[in-house]
Order: sequence, then structure tokens, then C-alpha cells
Amino acid sequence: MILFPLMFYLWSTSNAENESISKPNIVLIMVDDLGIGDLGCYGNTTLRTPNVDSLAKKGATLTQHIAAAPLCTPSRAAFLTGRYPVRSGMASLNRLGVFLFSASSGGLPTEEITFAKLMQQQGYSTALIGKWHLGINCNSSDDFCHHPLNHGFDYFYGIPVNNIRDCRPGHGSVFASGIKMYIPTTLQITGTALISLAVLHYIGLLRVSHRVLGYSFLMTALLLGLLMYFFYNFRYLNCFLMRNHDIVQQPWSYENLMQRFTEEAKRFIKRNSDAPFLLLLSYPQVHTALYVSQDFKGKSKHGLYGDAVEEMDWSVGQILHALDQWHLSERTLVYFTSDQGAHLEEISSNGEVHGGYNGIYKGGKSTNWEGGIRVPGLVRWPGVVEPNISIDEPTSNMDIFPTIVKLAGAPLPMDRIIDGHDLMPLLQGIALQSKHEFLFHYCNAYLNAVRWHPGNSKSIWKAFFFTPNFSPKGSNGCYDSHVCFCHGNFITHHDPPLLFDLSKDPEEKNSLTPETESHFYEILQVIQQAVNNHTKSLTVVPNQFSLGNILWKPWLQPCCSSFIQFCYCNNDS
Ligand SMILES: *[C@@H]1O[C@H](CO)[C@@H](O)[C@H](O)[C@H]1NC(C)=O
Repeated sequence: MILFPLMFYLWSTSNAENESISKPNIVLIMVDDLGIGDLGCYGNTTLRTPNVDSLAKKGATLTQHIAAAPLCTPSRAAFLTGRYPVRSGMASLNRLGVFLFSASSGGLPTEEITFAKLMQQQGYSTALIGKWHLGINCNSSDDFCHHPLNHGFDYFYGIPVNNIRDCRPGHGSVFASGIKMYIPTTLQITGTALISLAVLHYIGLLRVSHRVLGYSFLMTALLLGLLMYFFYNFRYLNCFLMRNHDIVQQPWSYENLMQRFTEEAKRFIKRNSDAPFLLLLSYPQVHTALYVSQDFKGKSKHGLYGDAVEEMDWSVGQILHALDQWHLSERTLVYFTSDQGAHLEEISSNGEVHGGYNGIYKGGKSTNWEGGIRVPGLVRWPGVVEPNISIDEPTSNMDIFPTIVKLAGAPLPMDRIIDGHDLMPLLQGIALQSKHEFLFHYCNAYLNAVRWHPGNSKSIWKAFFFTPNFSPKGSNGCYDSHVCFCHGNFITHHDPPLLFDLSKDPEEKNSLTPETESHFYEILQVIQQAVNNHTKSLTVVPNQFSLGNILWKPWLQPCCSSFIQFCYCNNDS
């Protein structure tokens, strides 16, 4: 807790402080699918994360830090823009809520402004090292409209799409299980249509020229051939490593991948040790396919997953060490988070747990139960943020945008709504209350729940308009479909909404009723009013997850050799 004398001190010296805190370096570390319960500083006693824990010891721990979405693509879009994903069209109306293919046309629209872009304009040297997952191209295989270099990063080394099981031979396939849901119906429909056409033709009920019939069969065969090509080359087509605009390894090798990201980050810090820089280090770990280097294999108490977390922690230690080495620690704000909660349904084919731990919180990735969105949030900035403090107010990963843009000296965009709020007043103890009176929790493009923290009380109300149907029933996730979905038969609607008070029931165990909460209907009324206002603020934007934007388009395929050579190269030293 923040002490009052300290507050007073900061208050009285805030002017002097402001001088020394302009244009700090910014290091943002985002881990993929890490659970809040995986870290020592959030209560884990068996996984060893001393380097991440040191950030908590020397800085602020946000205990109610909320990801703007429970899936990678929308959460990262919100993080980079400070806006709810629905505002940028980065929220899906379908089942598929993340980009799967390197050759689909959806992505973070060029009109969106990332913090990197604004900081670049302020003279910051900016780099993204690691995972992007916000699209690559629009109309050709090299227009790079959605690429990191088009969104404010001077330097990119990493994976433009995503690390998934299909990228690693022998680690199973997400893609196969995904298309299994669609292939039978697609085949049935096209098959039935073609056969009926032929039958009708031959019994004389329909006149179709042989040419048309022939073409239809040929087209179908071609399409199937293309699909097979795609399917068997998934790894080559989607799992590649880029340096700036160039593909340097296709498919990427897992060999020392973590070391390479770490070295790149250290080198970037060294190159920029006398200029303000922004480094977004976005680990593809600890998403499956899991991998670790030899030094970490079998070392943790939690299998391959634990090994991967411990290697990630090692890498964080390397970055902190580099900051020390170049005498930058006092001039650098370091932020650490995860893009969403742990993916509970990640269990390998031989039963090994490949997903993390969300502590006491219910559910996980792909849900808006606290386990899906309450993520680690650590901020270290020696001399500015007091060591070892804990901030329990609601904060969002969208808050990073206004916070660091302001620190860089750039004005916030005035032509659009920014949903995040500057974190500095909370971090410096100048404010005790979060500006997030309401937070809206979306499941893809569907408003799933609302969190209300009234200014005059300790309560944190959370109302669910629907909840995912866990499968098997009574479990803590959607194990039958691997992720939870946001509409149709996959959810249960609630009217009146399911209401919880997170300040008393963080595990979301006991939903309130008019009997147990005397202000039940008044609370829901306030929340409904907030929803109305929020909904009014939304405008119609192009849907980046439309069918046309998520499908594989062969002409958009980035490929470092010719197609005949199956897109293979290895130039990463
Ligand atoms: C620590 O994390 C591991 C790996 O996710 C998990 O299995 C374990 O239950 C956690 N332990 C504690 C005490 O939180």
C-alpha cells in the first residue's frame, strides 16, 4: 500500500520530478499466454522466476491489471493502440478470433496509431523483437501494409504470425482440429452440389453443357489440390522469422530461438544506449508449441511448460542486466505483462500440461472470467516508482499507450477515442483511484461483461451478459473445443446479468441476487447506462476478421524462395 507521507513527498516534488522523467527509455515485455499464477511475485512457490520477481521488488505490482481481450490478436491490437479492439475492427464476429495465416489480408489498419508511431515521431528509436500477430499484407505479398515497420517500428526481428503446434513437427496440430470442424460440411456441400448437377444433367432434367460440368469438376479438383498443398506445407507457409521486411528463416528453427530474441534485444539496447528508445520484447513463449534450450530442459518442477517459463525469466534477467551494464536502469521504465490468461486447455497428446496457471481465478484464455483477463502487470522505474508497492485499482493493458506516449512528450491523438488512461498518477501515488470507472470485457466482437468500480466505494462489480458453456460440464474450461467461443450454442445468455462483487469474491463463485445484494437492480441499471454510452461511442469500421480477410490468399503468401521450392530458406546466423 502507498503511504501517505510518501504521497505528500511526491506531491510536493512532482515538479522537480517531471524534469527528470521526460523521455525515459521504455522496455515493454509481453509474454504469450503466461498465467498470473505462474510467477513468484504473484504467489507461485514452485516455479522459479527471480528476475521477473525482481521487477516487483523494485517497482509496482498491479494486482488488477486487465487485458483488453482474452485472445492474442485483439489484446495486442488494444495494447498497441490504447483502444478497445472493436474500435479498430480487430474483433471477430465469427469463431476465429485470431489470425492464423501469414497470407490473409486482415490486420491492424494503417489508420490506427500505435504508441510506437508517436514515439518514433518524438525521436525514439523503436524496435519490436518477437511476436507481432497483427497482419502483414493487404493486396500483394510485399505491400507490408500491416507490418510492424509500417506501424512505427524502426526495427523488427521476429515472427509476424504466431507460434502454434503446427510449427513444430511432432507437437500436434491446432490447424487440423480447427479445419476438421469445417471440412466435412464444405466437402458435403460441394460434393452434393456437383453430383446433383451431374445427375440432373444425365437424366435430362437440367441442361448443362459438358464444358460447364467439366470446368466445375476441374475447379473443385484444383481447389482441393491447393488446400492439400497448403495443409501439408503449413509450417513453411506460416512459421517464418523476419528481419525487417526480409524472411530470414522459413520455417523457423526452434534451436536457441529464445537466445536469439534475447541477443537481438541486448544488441538493440547497446546500439541505443545514448538515445531514447522503445523496445517491445514480445516473447512467442510460453504459447505452444513449447520449446526450451538445453540449459533449461528438465530443470523446473513443472515439465516443459515450467522449463519454458524459467527460460523466459532468464531472458528477462539478461535484459535487466544489459540495462545495468549500459547504466540505463534509472532512465528506463520496464513493464512486464502477458497478453491474456493461461490457456488451460493446452494439454499435450500424452497428457502433459502445456498451459499455465491462473491462480485463484476462474477460467482462462478465451474467456472473460478473471482467469482469462487478469494478467501480471509490473512496472519498474527506479527513482520514480517506489519499490515494492502494490496497486489494487483496476488498470488495463490499454493504459500503456497514453502513459508512454505522454512520457515521450507526444500529444495524444485528438481525432479518436483512447480508452486507456495514464498510469503515472497511480504509479507515483498521486492518485489513489483508477480512472477506469468502467471496463468493458469483449469476447471477440461481443460485449461479454462489464466491470464497474464506483468512485465512492471499494466494490468492484462485474456483470456478465453471457458466459461460455464449459465442456465437459463442471470443468474450468472448454476442453472439447480447445478454446471457448463467444456466440451461438457455445454460450448461455443471462437476463438479468450474472453479477459478482470481485472485491469480496475474486474467484467469481457466488453470483449475487436481489436477496443477497439489496442494490442489485440499481447496480445493473448503472451498468446498463454505461453500456449505452459506450455503445454510442462506437463507429462502424472495416471488419478485419471478415471471411475475405481471414482466408488464405495464395497471392499474399510471403515466401523467401519459389513456391516450387516450398518456401524454404535459412539465413539467420
Ligand atoms: C506454479 O505454477 C505451476 C505451473 O503453471 C502450477 O502448476 C502450480 O500449481 C503453481 N504453484 C503455485 C503454488 O501456485
